[in-house]
Amino acid sequence: MKEDKSLPYFITWTSQNEALTIPLERVSNDYFFEKNNKWLNLSSISYQASFGLKNSKILNAIKKQMGEFSLASPKQTFHLKQEVSTRLIEKTGSKYKCFFTLSGSEGIENALKIARQITGRKIILSQKNSYHGATMGALSITGDWRNKDHLLPKQWTKTIPNPQDDPNGEKLDALIVSIGTDKIAAICLETITGGNGVFIPTQKWYKALNRILKKHKILLILDEVVCAGHRTGPFFGFQNYPFLKPDLIVAAKALTGGYFPLGVVLVSQKLSNYYDKHILSCGLTNYGHPLGLAALKAVLDLTEEDKFKTQLYKNIESFANFFELLKDKGIVSRSIGLLGAVEVNDKLVTKDLIDNGIYASIQNQRLILAPNLTMSSSTLKKGLNKVGLLLNEKLS
Ligand SMILES: Cc1ncc(COP(=O)(O)O)c(C=O)c1O
Repeated sequence: MKEDKSLPYFITWTSQNEALTIPLERVSNDYFFEKNNKWLNLSSISYQASFGLKNSKILNAIKKQMGEFSLASPKQTFHLKQEVSTRLIEKTGSKYKCFFTLSGSEGIENALKIARQITGRKIILSQKNSYHGATMGALSITGDWRNKDHLLPKQWTKTIPNPQDDPNGEKLDALIVSIGTDKIAAICLETITGGNGVFIPTQKWYKALNRILKKHKILLILDEVVCAGHRTGPFFGFQNYPFLKPDLIVAAKALTGGYFPLGVVLVSQKLSNYYDKHILSCGLTNYGHPLGLAALKAVLDLTEEDKFKTQLYKNIESFANFFELLKDKGIVSRSIGLLGAVEVNDKLVTKDLIDNGIYASIQNQRLILAPNLTMSSSTLKKGLNKVGLLLNEKLS
C-alpha cells in the first residue's frame, strides 16, 4: 500500500493526501494481485462484485452483447429488456414495472421523484444511520456523514428514530402525526443497513412499520442496492420479512456483479398504473443499456443454478459460524446471509487488514464483511480465519 499524492484523478470519499491506494496488476476471481502481494476480496469491492472479480459467465454475456447491439435506445423494445424485466419482477413475487438506471443513486433519485409526483407530497422520511447515494436527492435522505458538505433540500426530509430505539414504532407514529400525514410522500429505508453497520431490524419493527404506513397512506421505498442479488440470503433483502410489499424497490450493484453500471427501480403496479395517463417525467440517456441488461441476464441465469445455491448456502453457514465464534468471544458483531459487521472500536483500522492481505474496509470503527457469494468454501474459511486471528490479536 502506498500513499499517493500525485494521481491525475480523484480517489472518492477521502482527502486526496490521505487516500489509501492499492496498486493493482491483475486479479483472480477472489484476489487482487500486485507483484508478490495479494489481497483476498472480502468486501466484494463495494458490495457489487458478488460473483467474483473474473466471472466468465457475466463477462462472456457482455462480450456477446457487444457484438450485437450495445447502445441504449430508450424507445426501442427488445427481447432482452422484456426478458430481464419479467424475470426480475417474478423474483419479487408481486406485480411491478421496471425503470432502469445506471446506479443505485439514480435509482433512489427516480424513486423519490416518482413517490413525490404521484402523491403530490414532498417530505421523505429516512434513517439517520443510512446511505442512499451521492446525487443530491439521494444524499438529502442519507443520514451519515456524507451529506454534511452539500447544500441539500433538507426541508423535504425528516429523520425517523432508529428501529432499535423504537421497537413498536410508537415514536415513528407520533413523528408522522406531528409532521402531518398529508405532507409525507414516503419513507425510504435500506432494508438492512449495509455499510453503516449491518443493523437488522426485527420482524416486529417491520410489522409495526407496515401497519403505520398503511394507516397513514405513506409509501414504502426500500433501498436494496446492497441487499438485492442474494447478499442476505433470499434474492431481495425484504424477503427476510415475508409480509413486506414495498411500493418501490431500488436495486443496483450486484445486479450485474458490478461488470456494467446498472440500477433499477421496481415500481408497484398500483403506482405504475398512474403513468398510463400521466407523463413519466424521468429518464436517462443510457437507460436500459443492453450491456447492463446482458450482464443482468447472466446474473439471473447463474443465480438460478443449483450449483450457485448450494455454494451460497454453504458459505452462509460458514459465515454464520464465524460470527457465532466472535460472539462467544464477546466481540460485538452482527450478520445476515453474507453481510456482517464487527465493532472494532479503533483497535483495528483498514491498513491492518490491507497489511494482512485482506481487502475490506473499516468505517466508523466497524469492519464490514461481504465476501463474494461464489467463493469456494476453503478460500472463504481461510479468509475468515485470518480476520478472526487479527480480531483476537487486536481486540483482546
Ligand atoms: C444502500 C445504498 N444505497 C445506494 C447506494 C448508491 O449506489 P451507487 O453508488 O451505485 O450510486 C449505495 C452505494 O454504496 C448503497 O450502499
